[in-house]
Amino acid sequence: MATNRTLTMIKPDAVRNGHIGAILEQINAAGFKIVAMKYTKLSTEKAGEFYAVHRERPFYGELVEFMSSGPIVAAILEKDNAVEDFRTLIGATNPADAAPGTIRAKYATSIGENAVHGSDSDENAAIEGSFHFAGTEVFA
Ligand code: CMP
Repeated sequence: MATNRTLTMIKPDAVRNGHIGAILEQINAAGFKIVAMKYTKLSTEKAGEFYAVHRERPFYGELVEFMSSGPIVAAILEKDNAVEDFRTLIGATNPADAAPGTIRAKYATSIGENAVHGSDSDENAAIEGSFHFAGTEVFA
């Protein structure tokens, strides 16, 4: 059964390149409601924890280093079919494969520095939402 929340991060590359406003506008225009949001920076420990599922992958070290290299925007988004619809909005992990008009096609620079994160399942959306936000920081 689909739930209606997903977790996104606007990654350090997109923040550095000045794309926070444009990305949030595209998210809102697509019908997502922001129910929690913060501007923050992950320590290497926290980035490693967030991406622990990828710890055996060859790109894990690079991913952790990049995700802790500068501030990010973390947000919980609400919409019917949020996980799947948000993944459609952001496009493929590799911007070279991302459909035209998607957030990654417009703002990502590489498969590693790919502008935004979106949860890949309802279960992970709940885990990742709790990773970034206390219940008191979520406003439905
Ligand atoms: P994200 O959707 O945040 O989830 C896992 C991340 O790992 C992914 O986006 C990419 O940023 C990163 N990633 C996936 N594949 C590679 C790769 N081949 N090389 C470098 N980074 C990758």
